Amino acid sequence: MKKWLIVILIASTIFGSSPKNSNLTTSSDLTSYSEKYRPQFHFSPAVNWMNDPNGLVFYDGEYHLFYQYNPYGTTWGHMSWGHAVTKDLLHWENLPVAIREYQDTKSGDSTMIFSGTVVVDTGNTSGLCTASDCMIAIFTSHVHKNGEGLLQHQSLAYSNDKGRIWTRYGKNPVLSIDRKDFRDPKIFWHEESKSWIMVLVIPDLYKVRFYKSSNLKEWALLSEFGNIGDIKKIWECPDLYQLPVTNDAGKKKWVLSLSGSHPAGSMYVGVQYFIGEFDGVKFIADDPKQPPMYVDYGKDFYAGIIFNNIPKEDGRTIMLGWGNNWAYANKIPTSSWRSTMSLPRELSLKKTQNGLILTQQPVSAITSLRKNEITDASAIEGNQIEVEMTINTASIKERELSILKSDGGKTIIGYNKISGEIFIDRTKAGNVSFHKDFSSIEKLKVNTINSEIKLHIFIDHSIIEVFINDGEFTMSEQFFPDGPYKIASPNDAITVKAWILKSTWKD
Ligand code: FRU
Repeated sequence: MKKWLIVILIASTIFGSSPKNSNLTTSSDLTSYSEKYRPQFHFSPAVNWMNDPNGLVFYDGEYHLFYQYNPYGTTWGHMSWGHAVTKDLLHWENLPVAIREYQDTKSGDSTMIFSGTVVVDTGNTSGLCTASDCMIAIFTSHVHKNGEGLLQHQSLAYSNDKGRIWTRYGKNPVLSIDRKDFRDPKIFWHEESKSWIMVLVIPDLYKVRFYKSSNLKEWALLSEFGNIGDIKKIWECPDLYQLPVTNDAGKKKWVLSLSGSHPAGSMYVGVQYFIGEFDGVKFIADDPKQPPMYVDYGKDFYAGIIFNNIPKEDGRTIMLGWGNNWAYANKIPTSSWRSTMSLPRELSLKKTQNGLILTQQPVSAITSLRKNEITDASAIEGNQIEVEMTINTASIKERELSILKSDGGKTIIGYNKISGEIFIDRTKAGNVSFHKDFSSIEKLKVNTINSEIKLHIFIDHSIIEVFINDGEFTMSEQFFPDGPYKIASPNDAITVKAWILKSTWKD
């Protein structure tokens, strides 16, 4: 018997019985990762429903991914924390469910484990570690009765064995304001003020709140930020981090990112960000009147947060997002699992003629997945491909340059020379009928640099991520095609290099 199986049997005795035995529901043994549409170099759960990444943290050589997970089915519900670890951010090992929904034996109320953070409590500030450090999870405890939300407050759990077994703190909740919607705490250690900072939202008031603590158990309100930028939809899953400006030596700025409306309108969800300063008490946006800026301009990137505790010497800030959209998430046509995560992306800031912007690059380890290189555009075909392309806009003869085609021969990624927009069109690409709002076209105006546009495209069965002009913009979209994708026929206007990529689950 695997070691972790013994562990979960003990854990399930501690946490009590569940509606049905689902201890195995995150095990890789339940799938060979070969199903139709299954991404091969992105994380997806072995079975069942997944949404937001939670508790992203590096600890003792492992990157941990916890995630919103339904152990009992392929649609949202019974929210608990699924768990996986990786050493290289690409090859994942599935672990048992980390923190489960539970029932209050007295009131009969159920509590689901909503989104949150994991920190490494160096120095045992919480007093909950049995050694000099341990892992502490702070999550939203979503109390509900018969599916109706009653209260959301913030609770704590701890693990003294590298995240394998979690115990809920006996004096939960650690933060409550008696509100039905108050959630998604992100906590980090703020070196300058030598304190823990919590960032979370009051979703329906479009407000981020900042709290401070010395022991992770008692929290004091510092300030609020909000009601600016894009407020077309409720705010969720905030995060706050400092990033270097790559082309301004030594300069650093703070970024506050949060999930809400999509750039194309409130029917869809997306992630916006603000650039400014955080002094340990409040966040001030550089330009509160600036039009909203978004992390990703495709339809399938939400709830992105960054990894905690990446060593200073490493210096990277890495974000993972949920590669799905609430508009149709529960209906995507995958069989035994639902949803994928984005690729891990390295974040930084860049000074441009339009001011500072967030840039993103896939983690560099991704090059280790490259198999054979293909330079003949007409030979680039498949479902697991990385493409590097330069478009010379001055050489485009047609009004619309076709870049990537679906199995049916329809252009699904292209460039419109007249409008200067990159577009992603999934209206006729494979299965689009499972939800009326899935079929859509995304357009994004991009700058040309010396008449060139650079695209870095990752095609992984049902998810495509496009990094534009060295990551100045990204567009991520799901597709459910019947056959392989194909690079559009050779064209004087493009130079292209591609690699078939290995599967991180099988190769
Ligand atoms: C975002 C979200 C969070 C919440 C979680 C519940 O996708 O709505 O605000 O904590 O999902 O699953």
